[in-house]
Amino acid sequence: MQTRPRVVVSVEASADGKVALTREAILMHQPSAGLWAAMTPSAADPVGIDVLATVREQYGCNAVLEGSGSLVPEDGVPEELPAYDGDTAELYRHFLPPDITGQASPPHLWFTVVDSRGRVRWTEKHENWDALVLVARSTPADYLAYLRRERICYLVAGEDQVDLAQGMVAMGTELGVGCVLSTAGGGLNGALLRAGLIDELHLTLAPALIGGLGTPSVVDGSPLAVGEPPTPLRLLSVHTDAGGSVRLHYTVVRG
Ligand SMILES: NC(=O)c1ccc[n+]([C@@H]2O[C@H](COP(=O)([O-])OP(=O)(O)OC[C@H]3O[C@@H](n4cnc5c(N)ncnc54)[C@H](OP(=O)(O)O)[C@@H]3O)[C@@H](O)[C@H]2O)c1
Repeated sequence: MQTRPRVVVSVEASADGKVALTREAILMHQPSAGLWAAMTPSAADPVGIDVLATVREQYGCNAVLEGSGSLVPEDGVPEELPAYDGDTAELYRHFLPPDITGQASPPHLWFTVVDSRGRVRWTEKHENWDALVLVARSTPADYLAYLRRERICYLVAGEDQVDLAQGMVAMGTELGVGCVLSTAGGGLNGALLRAGLIDELHLTLAPALIGGLGTPSVVDGSPLAVGEPPTPLRLLSVHTDAGGSVRLHYTVVRG
């Protein structure tokens, strides 16, 4: 069996486990961002920690993983891309230019997004991290050509959707990633769970209720089959603060 990076999930939720206010509005945008922040009362002894710094120190974590749903609303219409009329065969190979992949790591960090539908447009460049996109054989050629023009690295894993297990293994073998911190929403966390890829969970709960059937929660994805058991967790630590927030840290118990 090929080894894969450790996968640590970090998520902030309301007390009823919702990770967004509605399915339509992503948290990065107003008014959701402000309303979300207001759910956590300030406290002299806040439970919040920098999970990325923690896992960097603990596991040498050098990649963050996001779902496309964190960056683009489900009903969002991405800016149209020019049509690609060249030979597409080369596009469906990993794109890993050595001048980008050869950087020292750490401190170098991969900001990785799962995006088989080619929805994310990359308009910002950051000094301390590079974008990495996980795509599939179904990803439009126009999008892969766009990533190549923008010199954004990508790994091809899976057919209709990104095969997350394959993607994780490729991140390890192609880029030397030993630990991935998922800061995704429920859709990607659910897919990671069903693929048996979650090793640890940092969960911070705010003292508020959101409710709403269909509002993204900590782990969504496909339901369990009848008779299929839940994934057991072992509690590693719990912290509470005077504002009423709770931070839980679990490890997944493997059978
Ligand atoms: N509170 C928090 O800590 C937190 C953290 C992150 C996000 N959020 C919020 O949560 C909301 C987004 O949550 P969401 O559940 O809609 O989006 P999401 O978690 O981004 O889920 C969609 C992503 O999962 C991928 N995916 C889904 N099923 C898959 C499968 N079977 N195999 C492979 N990949 C699969 C999709 O890939 P494709 O793109 O390839 O289809 C897409 O990248 C937003 O409002 C965001 O602001 C909250």
